[in-house]
Amino acid sequence: TRVAVIFGGMSVEHEVSVISALQAIQNMDKERYEIIPLYISKEGSWYTGEELIDIEEYKNLKGLLQKAQKVQISRTSVNQVAIHKDPKPKFGKSFINEIDVAFPIVHGTFVEDGVLQGFLELLKIPYVGCDVVSSSTGMDKVIMKNVYRDSGLPILEYVWFYSSEWTEDQDALVKKVEETLSYPVIVKPANLGSSVGISKATNQEELEEAVELASQFALKIVVEKAVQNLTEVNCSVLGDYESVEASVIEQVLGSDEFLSYEDKYAGGSSKDSGASKGMESTNRIIPAEIGEEKTKEVQELAKRAFQVLGCNGVSRIDFLIDNDDGKKVYINEINTIPGSLSFYLWEPSGKPYQQLLNDLIQLALK
Ligand code: DAL
Ligand code: MG
Repeated sequence: TRVAVIFGGMSVEHEVSVISALQAIQNMDKERYEIIPLYISKEGSWYTGEELIDIEEYKNLKGLLQKAQKVQISRTSVNQVAIHKDPKPKFGKSFINEIDVAFPIVHGTFVEDGVLQGFLELLKIPYVGCDVVSSSTGMDKVIMKNVYRDSGLPILEYVWFYSSEWTEDQDALVKKVEETLSYPVIVKPANLGSSVGISKATNQEELEEAVELASQFALKIVVEKAVQNLTEVNCSVLGDYESVEASVIEQVLGSDEFLSYEDKYAGGSSKDSGASKGMESTNRIIPAEIGEEKTKEVQELAKRAFQVLGCNGVSRIDFLIDNDDGKKVYINEINTIPGSLSFYLWEPSGKPYQQLLNDLIQLALK
């Protein structure tokens, strides 16, 4: 089976995607699968080539893109997708490779949010993971919250608005936030991952700053009640609409009420580049020390959060537990293509990474 691993993309989480994808490629069963790396540059060009699977090469990205082969993807008559040289020669063959299944390992806007999935639908190529609707619903925090609330799943109280509305009538929106929620609040761009553009506000001045920051990244802004005394836990779910399983739970030890991009990927103040440290830098306890009952509750909620969106493949659902309010559990968000594909939660659940990748490819070909 020829598996095209698609990674990178025009997203602020580009680097995280490279790490996730190269990790996955390393762990795939090479006897069973022929792996074709397909890298989308930050500008949106597509590349293939062996050199793209070596993390060291990314230190000189310009050089790497000169070495790699720029390609175009198109549907062929043989019911498969072909990867051609770009530009295509006028005469002669430009054929490079055909693929049987695509494996998107991408994070963020234009790639994790249904855009890439829609492109693959048009090509009629089977692909690993969520479809267009579940991907886009998962990426837009406002729509995600609406669906979860309507499905009876617990979410934090929130207010949302367009950044243009904020510019037009800031006073009215400040009033709305202050009346609906009380400080402190968390302000987020509605459609980014990896905590980019997120900050906390404890008063009106900070709220204004936080909205300005979030507005740099998105048109829709979400303001949530901040849980003050919280435990952050994540649970991964694997499967499709017919059957799902939940992983062990991780407890995330952040340096603050929420994890910043630096906490998650750059190892806080460490001098190491975020790209080389990747997911390893976050402090976590696996399994989470929240007791058997809470563990079950979180796993059940995670499975429902996955299924009500119609997810497929592997997702990670992030929760907040409010320790001041009877340890009430809230769904914070879903990541439909989680960093590192959550392999570190499946290994202690009894599923080695190679098996997880295998399960994912088989789900796509089902
Ligand atoms: N969006 C990142 C990769 C995550 O939360 O896993
Ligand atoms: Mg995320």
